Amino acid sequence: MVENTPYQRGDEVILEIETAAFEGKSIARLGSFVVFVEGAVPGDRVRARLTKIKRNYGEAQVTEILTPSKDRTEPRCPYFGGCGGCRWQHVTYETQLRYKQQHVLDAFERIAGFRAVPLQPIIGSQEQYAYRNKMEFSFASEQWKWKGMKETLVPVYLGLHVPQRYDKVLDIETCYLQSERLNRLLSATRDFARSHQLTVYNSKSHTGFLRFLVLRETKNTNQVLINLVTSDVNDAIVSTYVAHIRSVEPTVTTIVNTVNRRKAQIATGDEVRVAYGEGFIEERIGDFRFAISAESFFQTNSLQAEKLYSVVKRLGQFSPNDVVYDLYCGTGSISIYVSNCVANVIGIEVVESAIRDAWKNAELNGSKNCVFVQGDLKERLTTSNGWMEQYPKPTVIILDPPRTGMHPKVVDRVLEIAPDRIIYVSCNPTTQARDVKLLSREYELLVVQPVDMFPHTYHVESVAYLVRKHHSAV
Ligand SMILES: C[S@@+](CC[C@H](N)C(=O)[O-])C[C@H]1O[C@@H](n2cnc3c(N)ncnc32)[C@H](O)[C@@H]1O
Repeated sequence: MVENTPYQRGDEVILEIETAAFEGKSIARLGSFVVFVEGAVPGDRVRARLTKIKRNYGEAQVTEILTPSKDRTEPRCPYFGGCGGCRWQHVTYETQLRYKQQHVLDAFERIAGFRAVPLQPIIGSQEQYAYRNKMEFSFASEQWKWKGMKETLVPVYLGLHVPQRYDKVLDIETCYLQSERLNRLLSATRDFARSHQLTVYNSKSHTGFLRFLVLRETKNTNQVLINLVTSDVNDAIVSTYVAHIRSVEPTVTTIVNTVNRRKAQIATGDEVRVAYGEGFIEERIGDFRFAISAESFFQTNSLQAEKLYSVVKRLGQFSPNDVVYDLYCGTGSISIYVSNCVANVIGIEVVESAIRDAWKNAELNGSKNCVFVQGDLKERLTTSNGWMEQYPKPTVIILDPPRTGMHPKVVDRVLEIAPDRIIYVSCNPTTQARDVKLLSREYELLVVQPVDMFPHTYHVESVAYLVRKHHSAV
């Protein structure tokens, strides 16, 4: 028992669930003791088992719903609760949006201490199911026995990881986050592996062939890329696989085989071998085209990506005199999307292959006013910043860092460069609020616009628009 609390791990308690917390958990109270609850919805009355007791808070897992919240809905997916993908399928979509909006507000108010946050109503996703254009499935030789799932004669399972059990895979026949066509391809691949008695890679013994299946599908151009990730080259198997897939689903555009000989369990590899088609697919976002190869980054919700990018364009109010830095530019999608409204865009990104894709995408679109610089931003804005002299001072800086947010030195350099406007796109409002707080020394926060890119998960995208203080006016 922890001092100051009368509770112990393993105790069963009755909880009234109050609000949504971060990462899909909810908050309840036992007197003044705060409990983060897994598997509940605000408005529920539940029985729960305490799984962790700390000095200031506890954690609990729901064991029985006594009175369900009005915000609950029946999850569509039979694997809900067993797979790590959708944590909020049991919550109505309107409620999910309300939680996400609140999450962004909390980040700016509580973490960054902003008052009167200029928060706009969240932009919901047009599609709530089948919205993903990319899914990555893992092969396993052992069945994760969930709700009586049975072993099969040939031990090949293909599915998604079990929450907190990265070595365990739940065999999945249908995932509602992807299209019916991708579900057919998932089943066809599993059937093929079983009927040919293929082996599954085991990272402990470093033996076995099949590792991952990555399915990608463009939403606006109707193309499909399959990437079968294996531990070795076996052209005979791969060409039989291609024939099988083409007979099941003739609409597939391209099939590649990534060979990853390393122990690291990742779906990228030493070699990408094109087995059928051109090795890439092409998506259209607004007036622009983007080539997507097996390993290139692309926003996973194509329809919402267009909304997100149009928010950037609307807030930026770009003019032909603007010079834009697109920091953390990835494959240059935002750079290219705004390029037809401005004088120049300079994109910076650390991953070499992303920079190569960015150049290719600029060429594909005839965006001659885009250039891309490879390197770590901390260095590219400080010690190795010779490239900056070749271009005029930026009037706008677009930021789209990873979940960890910006390095403080990059924030400092952005403040020194002093563009008129800053547009900060983020997939993590917590780090965004922290960085915007630092930027607000010199900039006024004029708009925060949440966008839902990932229905049924607790993730939310958010765009902040800042203007230099003595410059004001939107
Ligand atoms: C959220 S993604 C940006 C995606 C892009 N704006 C788009 O919409 O397609 C963040 C990008 O930052 C890059 N990155 C992460 N750390 C970096 C660093 N220190 N310097 C430069 N780029 C970095 C990642 O490789 C990744 O491509």
